[in-house]
Amino acid sequence: MNDRVPDGAVPATTPFERVGGEARVRALVDRFYDLMDLEPAYAGLRALHPTTLEGSRDKLFWFLCGWLGGPSHYTDRFGHPMLRARHLPFAIGIRERDQWMACMQQAMAEVELDPSLAQQLAASFFQTADWMRNRGV
Ligand code: HEM
Repeated sequence: MNDRVPDGAVPATTPFERVGGEARVRALVDRFYDLMDLEPAYAGLRALHPTTLEGSRDKLFWFLCGWLGGPSHYTDRFGHPMLRARHLPFAIGIRERDQWMACMQQAMAEVELDPSLAQQLAASFFQTADWMRNRGV
């Protein structure tokens, strides 16, 4: 018996499993981009993206599956994400970071992710979003 896991403890699961697998990751990504299209508060973020968001939806979905500890769809297709380098063509400051975070937090709430899981993911998303900043303001 593993003496570090008390009897009756829930076995460790990945965030991917806790979100609910591929269908739920896809629902989260779809809501994220729907909100980006709909909400005036995210117009600045939307303006950085292509006219049609279909490619963005697929890429974020593939990426997040792996980022959450699930299947490596993104790296299978494109290799190392090099996420910061891939964002360099876009001017990302505090305003863009905060819009991305607000849009993702609204999407997580609207697809009814467990609030404590959403809070944990928001902290991780923030680290990645902040790392993407490539200008001061
Ligand atoms: C900080 C604010 C952010 C802004 C303003 C931003 C903006 C963008 C834009 C404009 C694109 C190009 C979309 C396209 O080519 O269809 C993009 C691509 C992408 N973003 Fe972000 N992003 C941000 C944060 C993030 C974060 C936090 C993640 C991951 C957790 C992420 C993951 C991705 C991925 C995987 C792609 C596709 C890269 C590729 O293969 O071309 N982004 N982002």
